[in-house]
Amino acid sequence: MSFADTKSPAPREGFIRVRNLRKAYQERRKARRDPEYPSPRYGEDILILDGVDIDIDEGEIVCILGPSGCGKSTLLRIIAGFDTSYTGEVSIAGRKVAGPSPHHIFVFQQSGLLDWMTVGGNVGLGLRRMKDKAAKREKVAEYLELVDLAGFEDHYPFQLSGGMQRRVELARAMAVSPEVLFMDEPFTGLDFLTHMRMREEVLNLHEYLRKTIVMVTHDIEDALIMGDRIVIFGNRPTRVKLARKLEFPRPRDVSSDPDLAELRRQVYLMMGVHYAL
Ligand SMILES: Nc1ncnc2c1ncn2[C@@H]1O[C@H](COP(=O)(O)OP(=O)(O)OP(=O)(O)O)[C@@H](O)[C@H]1O
Ligand SMILES: [Mg+2]
Repeated sequence: MSFADTKSPAPREGFIRVRNLRKAYQERRKARRDPEYPSPRYGEDILILDGVDIDIDEGEIVCILGPSGCGKSTLLRIIAGFDTSYTGEVSIAGRKVAGPSPHHIFVFQQSGLLDWMTVGGNVGLGLRRMKDKAAKREKVAEYLELVDLAGFEDHYPFQLSGGMQRRVELARAMAVSPEVLFMDEPFTGLDFLTHMRMREEVLNLHEYLRKTIVMVTHDIEDALIMGDRIVIFGNRPTRVKLARKLEFPRPRDVSSDPDLAELRRQVYLMMGVHYAL
């Protein structure tokens, strides 16, 4: 057997591995000390993530759930390379994450569209290197069509509703065909129907591109309907409470799939909700 045969295969581009991730922030509040309720002192380290292990396969949609303040956004920022002060291992495609990458796109919760640029200009932002103008226009149109906004190229963001702006952001993120797409609570603030449509839009885009999506959500239904895998965090200092691959067929409907309904019940309980079951 040659040496080349014994080498392990090249890790896939969207494969993410997190091992024993620990992250602390320094206390910056000058809190008054109350002997009855001890609080961290100024400058003291507050442990947020306490040994988090996660595996994400290439092309998966992973939904991360957990109580407010447990460190979901912190984790996303670390995997996306925006925060490198942690201990443990965080790697994508076998390479240690050392900073942000143009192949990894982050969709923030707040709108990130440029107001002074048209919708077409915004979606084309990541395609600046494409010299062929006609091909670029075609690509912009293709992605706008995927999010059901064909023909809106020349509009400005202020001429669109909040939900439409979100869809433009999604088109912009997907148009660069990132290896990994990070989304931090992307549907927050949308009305119910727009939320449902956005969910569908993300699933359609994923079906089309098959790239890894790591999404933080507070919506259990989102996670159960969309996720190829769900990860649930506990309270701080945070560890993984449950990590599970979801093999349910799509399209998923919690009300008609008893196994999915049972999982939903378990997840609600795990997150401390005993009613609404
Ligand atoms: N830059 C920072 N400096 C100090 N503490 C921080 C910083 N960013 C976040 N924290 C603290 O770390 C904890 C986790 O924050 P994070 O934003 O990751 O939570 P989250 O799980 O995303 O919460 P939410 O669901 O409310 O968005 C919080 O207690 C927060 O106060
Ligand atoms: Mg957050």
